[in-house]
Amino acid sequence: MRRFDGRIAMITGAANGIGAAVAHRLAAEGARIAVIDLEEAALLKEFSGLPKASCLTMAGDCTQDDVLRRFVATAEQKLGPIDILVNNVGQSARERGGAFVDSDQEVWRFVLEISLLVTLRLSRLVAPGMKARRSGRIVNMSSDAAFAGDAGLADYATAKMGLIGFTRALARELAADGVTVNAVAPGAVRTRAHDRIAPEILDRLRKGTPAGFIAEPEDVAGLVAYLASAEARFVTGQTILIDGGRWML
Ligand SMILES: NC(=O)c1ccc[n+]([C@@H]2O[C@H](COP(=O)([O-])OP(=O)(O)OC[C@H]3O[C@@H](n4cnc5c(N)ncnc54)[C@H](O)[C@@H]3O)[C@@H](O)[C@H]2O)c1
Repeated sequence: MRRFDGRIAMITGAANGIGAAVAHRLAAEGARIAVIDLEEAALLKEFSGLPKASCLTMAGDCTQDDVLRRFVATAEQKLGPIDILVNNVGQSARERGGAFVDSDQEVWRFVLEISLLVTLRLSRLVAPGMKARRSGRIVNMSSDAAFAGDAGLADYATAKMGLIGFTRALARELAADGVTVNAVAPGAVRTRAHDRIAPEILDRLRKGTPAGFIAEPEDVAGLVAYLASAEARFVTGQTILIDGGRWML
């Protein structure tokens, strides 16, 4: 018996990086998946190997309320009730980052929207069904930037720490209903976001990581799969750092 046989999982921002790795991991262990991303071609290519009956792909902008509503309605109609929600989508808008004293509200709004509010909105749509069925798993993608407070990314650190508060509050509200809510806070993970980071900064990151290497998206997928599994039924409200030992709580 695979861990997610008969389960339905929804993953945001799944065409690349961590979201793609999580979706493949859950599918490989038996889940039927609903995945959404802005990048339609990349999304279709990424999941072309999965049968249509077990994988629903939707192209769309997660910051749009109607897109999220359509995503949930279509997934429930085509696959069934959502058992696992992985709120992965997020962006630091690093290319527009900089000192807070010079920062621009338009960029804060963009970062808070995609890296915090989308998670609240999608959880608002999916959690009532989980509560009613007295079963569910929600995993939110935070970042060790929440703990480090990366200079130049105050908005991103704010959003990712906000996710931790949200995770705790929702976990408390849903704990007695058999629904767990946890967050994962990765350190440096090799995804295309890293293409935008200068090599000397990546080198500094590697040197500042006790494990001495940068993780692969599959490392994060393994942790998400554990939190999404039945084995993790007594784990809720937690934020688990997966960062090679940079932060130890
Ligand atoms: N890579 C890292 O080192 C790292 C570290 C800590 C946290 N994270 C977090 O992990 C998550 C995934 O990051 P990643 O590194 O895999 O990024 P990525 O850029 O490789 O993948 C993100 C995906 O989200 C999609 N996306 C972006 N905006 C969207 C929108 N409005 N609507 C729908 N889809 C959208 C992109 O098209 C992309 O496919 C993010 O929340 C990020 O903050 C990443």
